[in-house]
Amino acid sequence: MQKGPTPSFPTTRMRRLRQHPGVRRMLEETRLTPADMVLPLFVRSGKGVRQAIGSMPGHFQISPDQLAAELDEVGELGLGGVILFGIPDTKDAVGSDSTSEAGIVQQAVAAAKKAAPDVLVITDVCFCEYTDHGHCGVINDKTGRVDVDNDATLELIASQALSHARAGADVVAPSGMIDGMVGAIRARLDAAGFTHVPVMSYAAKYASAFYGPFRDAAESTPQFGDRRSYQMDPAADARQALREVELDLAEGADIVMVKPALPYLDILRDVRDAFPGVPLAAYNVSGEFSMVKAAAERGWIDERAVALESLLALRRAGAGILLTYWAKQAARWLA
Ligand code: PBG
Repeated sequence: MQKGPTPSFPTTRMRRLRQHPGVRRMLEETRLTPADMVLPLFVRSGKGVRQAIGSMPGHFQISPDQLAAELDEVGELGLGGVILFGIPDTKDAVGSDSTSEAGIVQQAVAAAKKAAPDVLVITDVCFCEYTDHGHCGVINDKTGRVDVDNDATLELIASQALSHARAGADVVAPSGMIDGMVGAIRARLDAAGFTHVPVMSYAAKYASAFYGPFRDAAESTPQFGDRRSYQMDPAADARQALREVELDLAEGADIVMVKPALPYLDILRDVRDAFPGVPLAAYNVSGEFSMVKAAAERGWIDERAVALESLLALRRAGAGILLTYWAKQAARWLA
């Protein structure tokens, strides 16, 4: 074994290994693959609907009949799958559409599985798109403080997840940051015979301004207050994310997610290192996407290069699964 100090310049020249493209390629450790990417889709009722989302160029609110074409493309590009968000016709205090067999997501899942049975369909399990107040659960003021009622919400979350599984969802992804949500869903799925359906938990989800464009897309902006009583404080001790992940795993989460992605690379890395064998997803959120789109439209940055570099950074930080609005574009760029 060679001991002693590493030889330094001029014996050692780091640039030596950067000369030949072949050597550079051989030394690449991080790879982007379409199979690791999940495309978010927004579904609303109707026929032939394809309504552009202003703040997210290239993305649309579509009706279930439009899913067939979309999923064909997803399959051809070799993407990992899609995650569905529903925009219901009517909202109410408890988000009734979200737990109904005839709900928009349930219809969408059924249409998706019929049109393209092999494409993986994940469903976002949450209430903010379905409630008239726009919060991620049931609101009460029992405590003299208007807030999401954690335990009352659990019951509904479990029903929602089960209805998604019954409609054919391959994976359910609770995103509300409600304590106990993973355990409640797991128990309900198992009791109904859906032991084979994985739970991908939005385990460390921050109260982030980067969700702005999504709330336009999903029409889910809170009508009062904000989400800081359930989503994490970006300024909190980073180890709080590890506790969230640990708790979700103890409740039976199969995949854990960090969200947003690019501003939270430290969290991704911490989770990767603390839980090496656990599948880890990163949600490259709407704001991360729209910022780049807007700057690229002005000719200020190169969209393709910036997008691929961003996604690569997420993989380097430890994410195995990337939820990204660039999924289709990235797959084409990589082809
Ligand atoms: C629903 C949900 C949100 C996102 C994914 N699921 C919005 C929120 O918490 O306000 C954000 C996704 C994005 O910004 O791309 N709870």
